[in-house]
Amino acid sequence: MKKIPFDINYLLRNFPTPFYVYDERGILNSLKKLQNSFNWCDFKEYFAVKATPTPYILRILGENGAGTDCSSMAELILSEKSGINGEDILFTSNNTPIEEYKKAYDLGAIINFDDTDHIKKFLSKIGKPDIASIRYTPKNAYGTEVIGNPKNSKFGMPYKKVLEGYKIMIDSGIKRFGFHAMLVSNTLSTDMITRNTQIIFEAVKNISEKLNIEFEFIDIGGGFGIPYKPEEKELDINLLSKNIKDLYNYYFNDFKPKLYTENGRYITGPHGYLITKVLHIKSSYKMYVGVDANMANLMRPAIYGAYHHITVLNKFGEYETYDVVGSLCENNDKFAINRKLPKIEEEDILIIHDVGAHGHSMGFNYNGKLKSAEFIYDGEKFKMIRRAEILDDYFSTIIF
Ligand SMILES: Cc1ncc(COP(=O)(O)O)c(C=O)c1O
Repeated sequence: MKKIPFDINYLLRNFPTPFYVYDERGILNSLKKLQNSFNWCDFKEYFAVKATPTPYILRILGENGAGTDCSSMAELILSEKSGINGEDILFTSNNTPIEEYKKAYDLGAIINFDDTDHIKKFLSKIGKPDIASIRYTPKNAYGTEVIGNPKNSKFGMPYKKVLEGYKIMIDSGIKRFGFHAMLVSNTLSTDMITRNTQIIFEAVKNISEKLNIEFEFIDIGGGFGIPYKPEEKELDINLLSKNIKDLYNYYFNDFKPKLYTENGRYITGPHGYLITKVLHIKSSYKMYVGVDANMANLMRPAIYGAYHHITVLNKFGEYETYDVVGSLCENNDKFAINRKLPKIEEEDILIIHDVGAHGHSMGFNYNGKLKSAEFIYDGEKFKMIRRAEILDDYFSTIIF
């Protein structure tokens, strides 16, 4: 059974639902677990800002040894404002506006290129980055049904282009290089990540021999999964680390690249909760539980059919089957379909679990719905780390 690791009554008494609440200790424990399991090498986690772009969380991760993986102007500025700068930022974007590259360059970030054309534009319009990498999309990656068939992927480059890109950078006088790939999403399979890492290491080895590059780092991406369903088992991070260590020792004898990951979900995913209140119960062709949260607060179930476990505060058992729905004029505005839950009444509080990554950040304002507040529990007290949007925020951009 999934539980919330603190008493939310204080928040319920003082703030309107819906709201997000995060568990600071849980987040830091996940980071430490990842760091400890890779302590056999020079390792760094660059937290994927898009997962939880909230400065309080970025700052505590930075204070505990993480960098940031940014992919837009706003994420670069969030990182800067959270005190994470220079090569503690990795800038991995696609279809990138030149101003965003410029901002990344000004911050001294590691620039990760998505196309040879971007490299040429960067060199001619901005200058020479001190350190750069290229995003590789191998055609034989595993698990591609999750992140997309490489042949349909808008991300990264095939091997030939990667080679061409490094040649362009060498000719421009760049001396420090890394290598990047992001091949899986939310996988609990150590085997899948290991096999993809082997493809990445193989490419690094080949390119380093062909072009005489001693790569400073290899970023094997994010995408480490979390158990969204109660019956799923956690990713065996120690086994994964051991597998990768074996590969590393096999491929890298002459030079020892640092190893980077850019996980979002693995760090914050299990430690965020969306708290929402039941407004109406409707009996139609099926039973609908209407809550005060909607897709604006959490889109994953609607856009991916993603499972998020739901518990009812102070109620137990599985007695009724419900669809748990929001109030948007979209029929996919549902947090759960045919879910067995305790018998629900108006005013009950539902806890939607594992929303700490790609949850609040994905929200949008369709139907003029507003994004909720975020709180964090630091082990002693709750802190508001983002206020809820108000209607004035919604109307502030309109000219009439
Ligand atoms: C380039 C890149 N890196 C890292 C991530 C983080 O993925 P996850 O939160 O699944 O680890 C994403 C997710 O969209 C991504 O696009």
